[in-house]
Amino acid sequence: MRILKKNSWELPESSVTPEIDFINRRRFLKAVGLGSGALVGQSLSRAATSGFPSTANDAYKLEGLEPTEYDLIKGYNNFYEFSYDKGDVQDLANKGWQTEPWTIEIGGHVDNPVKLDVNELIKKVGGIEQRVYRFRCVEAWSMVIPWDGFQLSKIIDLVQPNAKAKFLKFTTFKDPKSAPGQKGGSIDWPYVEGLTIEEARNDLTLLATGIYGKPIPNQNGAPIRLVVPWKYGFKSIKSIVKIEFVSKRPVNTWQALQPREYGFYANVNPEVDHPRWSQASERIIGSGFFSKRKDTLMFNGYEEQVASLYEGLDLRRNF
Ligand code: MTE
Repeated sequence: MRILKKNSWELPESSVTPEIDFINRRRFLKAVGLGSGALVGQSLSRAATSGFPSTANDAYKLEGLEPTEYDLIKGYNNFYEFSYDKGDVQDLANKGWQTEPWTIEIGGHVDNPVKLDVNELIKKVGGIEQRVYRFRCVEAWSMVIPWDGFQLSKIIDLVQPNAKAKFLKFTTFKDPKSAPGQKGGSIDWPYVEGLTIEEARNDLTLLATGIYGKPIPNQNGAPIRLVVPWKYGFKSIKSIVKIEFVSKRPVNTWQALQPREYGFYANVNPEVDHPRWSQASERIIGSGFFSKRKDTLMFNGYEEQVASLYEGLDLRRNF
């Protein structure tokens, strides 16, 4: 994401790779045999232990929408721990960063805190399923992604929050040796995100462990990430190591950096523009040289499922 004010951490416009340049570069790399073929042993061994193959949950199909090409989903990435350049993330996230084994800690105001390997967690919640969701970035591009994973509400059932738990705070790993982007810059690492407990309980809120029926690639947030399809993509925090049930609303990474531009809610809303991006429409990734645009839907098309969460809230002020 680009930032309005000129701060030390602001990127020049040129460092955000336009999709078409990105696609051309990858085609070129593939043609000369340099594309990252690093699907590697880590992913293969994880598949054996983490609940694959998953079964499609037909309640979450998107009729009439083509899923985005796998190569684009795993090659056009925002993961600032590795790079600000979407086209570089895939290579950098597969250069020795270990995502297996992976321990996740879930605690705070809960009766049954746990700290366990992610594959154990998948077993405890009863395995994974596949759901196809729209995915909309605040930079006004979108994809359609077949995720594998499980509902976050299953974790809530597992750890039993008490009355003090009003919000969930999610934290990503911190390991500057493996993640070069964490060596500097203005982000106060690790990346953090938050949800209200009601948002976390919503049936749509997913912890994803796969894409297209395979373990989630490192660059997409291996081995476990959040997916909140009615919110802008930055809420969907990758590579989670900790989930805390807290009483105060957490300050998420982008809100901490630029509170005028990024709020806590970040609900997709075509009527509330970001200071630098109109949110009225979106560019469909993978729709060809002159990428097609389509009108953005309120709550990214999930209004029926989530509008009640925000009844009485001024969505302009609570952006
Ligand atoms: N999570 C972490 N830890 N670090 C990040 O930089 N980027 C966010 C989100 N989650 C990010 C993150 C943003 S801005 C977007 S749009 C999505 O991840 C991108 O997910 P994708 O690369 O799988 O498309």
